[in-house]
Amino acid sequence: MGAPHVIPYQGSKRKIADDILKYIDFDVPGKLYEPFAGSAAITLSAAAKGKANGYVIGDKYEPLVELWKIIIESPEDVANRYEHLWMSQLSNPREFFTQIRDQYNADSDPVKFLYLVARCVKNAIRFNSKGEFNQSPDNRRLGTKPERVRREAKRASQLLKGRVELRSGDFLDILECATSDDIVYMDPPWQGTSNKKDPRYAYLLELDRLIYGLEQLNKRNVPFMLSFDGTCGDRTYGNELPTELGLTKIGVHAGRSSQATLLGREDITIESLYLSPSLVERCNSDKPLISSELQLQFF
Ligand SMILES: C[S@@+](CC[C@H](N)C(=O)[O-])C[C@H]1O[C@@H](n2cnc3c(N)ncnc32)[C@H](O)[C@@H]1O
Repeated sequence: MGAPHVIPYQGSKRKIADDILKYIDFDVPGKLYEPFAGSAAITLSAAAKGKANGYVIGDKYEPLVELWKIIIESPEDVANRYEHLWMSQLSNPREFFTQIRDQYNADSDPVKFLYLVARCVKNAIRFNSKGEFNQSPDNRRLGTKPERVRREAKRASQLLKGRVELRSGDFLDILECATSDDIVYMDPPWQGTSNKKDPRYAYLLELDRLIYGLEQLNKRNVPFMLSFDGTCGDRTYGNELPTELGLTKIGVHAGRSSQATLLGREDITIESLYLSPSLVERCNSDKPLISSELQLQFF
C-alpha cells in the first residue's frame, strides 16, 4: 500500500513524490519540513518511507492546518463528520454544497473545508477577492466516499501522530528553526499563477520573498528542494531563479497535462525541481548532479 491520501488537492505532488524523494538518499537526523504543505503529499510519502526523524507540516491557510490537526489527532471524528455531510447531500447535492460553502465562509470549519475540496470542480480550491471560498460543485461526482476518507485519515494519523508538528503561517516563520540536520521541501504557489487575478490560492507569494527565504536557508546550510517552474509541450511557466543561489535543476516527468488531453494533444508536463547546494553535497547516488550553477537534467 502506498502513502495515505486524505485531502484531494489540485496540484498535489502525490504522483511524483517518489521522483522527488529519491534525492533524499541519506540519513536525515532531523525533521522534514513542508511549509507549503497543501495535501502534504511529500510528508506522507516521506513518513511512509521513514525518511526523517520527524515532520513539520505548515501552510498559511489556517483551516487547512486545522484540518491536518484533527486528521492526525482524531481521525474517527473527522471521518464521522465527513460522512454525515456526505450522506446529508444525497437528496440535493448541488443545493447542499452551496449551503455548506456559505456556512464555511462564515465559520471556517475544517471538516466543511474537506467536504468542499472533495466535492468541488477538479478539487481546485478557489477564492474571491474577499478570501471566500467560491469554487462550484462538480455536478458529475459526489466527492470522495466516506469509507475512503475514514481509511486514509486513520492511516495518516497512524503514520504521523506523535511525530509531526503543525504550524500555520508564512513559510519564513515556519522555517525559522530549520537547521542543517533538517531537510525542507517547498512547493510555493507557482509564479505563473501568482498574480492578483488568479484566485487559485488563498495567499500569493512574491518572488522576492521566496528568493530571500532560499538565500537564508543557503546561509544556514539547510538542505532544501523546491518545486517551482516547468514546461508543458512548448509552453514554459515560471521564471528561472537567480544563479547565485547555486541550485541544481532537475526535470521531473509529471505526466500528460489534463488540459492537453482534453485538446487531443500529447503534451507532457515537466516540472522543475531545484536542489540546494547543501542537499546536493549530501546526495549519495547522483553525484554528477553536483554543480555550482543551474543545470538541467531530464529523466
Ligand atoms: C502548490 S500548493 C502546495 C501543494 C502541495 N505540494 C501538495 O502536494 O498538495 C501551495 C500551498 O502553499 C500555501 N501558501 C501560499 N502562500 C504561502 C506562504 N507565504 N507561506 C506558507 N504557505 C503558503 C497555499 O495555501 C497552498 O496550500
